[in-house]
Amino acid sequence: MGVFLCCLLALLVSSCSAGAGASAAGERCVRQGKAAYAPSLSPLPQGSGVCGYGAMAAEINGGFLAAGGPRQHRGGLGCGRCFQMRCRDARLCSSRGVRVVLTDFHRSNRTDFLLGGPAFAGLAKPGVAHELKRLDALSVEYKRIPCDYKDKNLSVLVEEGSKSPSNLVVKFLYQGGQTDILAVDVAPVGSSEWRFMTRVHGPVWRTDRAPAGPLQFRAVVTGGYDGKWVWAEREVLPAGWRPGQVYDTGVRIADVARDGCQRCVGGAASAAALDWK
Ligand SMILES: *[C@@H]1O[C@H](CO)[C@@H](O)[C@H](O)[C@H]1NC(C)=O
Ligand SMILES: *[C@@H]1O[C@H](CO)[C@@H](O)[C@H](O)[C@H]1NC(C)=O
Repeated sequence: MGVFLCCLLALLVSSCSAGAGASAAGERCVRQGKAAYAPSLSPLPQGSGVCGYGAMAAEINGGFLAAGGPRQHRGGLGCGRCFQMRCRDARLCSSRGVRVVLTDFHRSNRTDFLLGGPAFAGLAKPGVAHELKRLDALSVEYKRIPCDYKDKNLSVLVEEGSKSPSNLVVKFLYQGGQTDILAVDVAPVGSSEWRFMTRVHGPVWRTDRAPAGPLQFRAVVTGGYDGKWVWAEREVLPAGWRPGQVYDTGVRIADVARDGCQRCVGGAASAAALDWK
């Protein structure tokens, strides 16, 4: 496994010169698209979406939630990614726009994003959100931004259905920065007997061979072209871990995608070129 991950990292670091970094470069670019209002995308359990954040979605980003279209899904990697977007009607739209987190996906070709109530209202200038909601699909520009969970460390939710001791399914919460988790290992605290976990979907990872706790974790995290290990070398899960509980890893991820070698294409501006604060 170790060898495999080293290769993976080498591959990631070299992908720029190989010209395979289009998606990462795209993350620095402002894109044009459509967004529509989705009343059902509420921060409630029934609106929790395919990423499976459940009732926690409400907490994740102050309830500023979005469902991404096919382009954002990326095999579930898109779960938990953060975007800033603004609409373009100078009469109705605020220039700052809104910051949303993806908690769900949709299949419609007509919009890139469906926005829940708070997020959609956040696009509007004060007092005109109701006018905006009447429009069918808004033209928006958007860019991926680092997620910023001010007072939260990366945390692990032990999923219902996990069976102590060996059957462990975890979901990562509060993954900050502009990063994707590409691999996860688990080991007993104080040991180096790492066992890999397998992605179930999006932020959810599982193993049927979990060692007895207490348990530590490590993950390969990428931001743009770079990959690196993130270690939580301390007790994350206690020996008596329980389904439904959230455990703090003590680690904060704040990496931002590095500048790549590819330019923004199709008339898209570099995110850095836009003053969007
Ligand atoms: C979306 O577009 C794809 C490819 O262009 C097409 O195959 C699919 O049927 C479209 N889906 C809908 C819901 O229109
Ligand atoms: C985050 O982890 C650090 C240890 O790395 C800890 O001191 C801090 O209290 C944690 N923060 C929260 C909000 O739990």
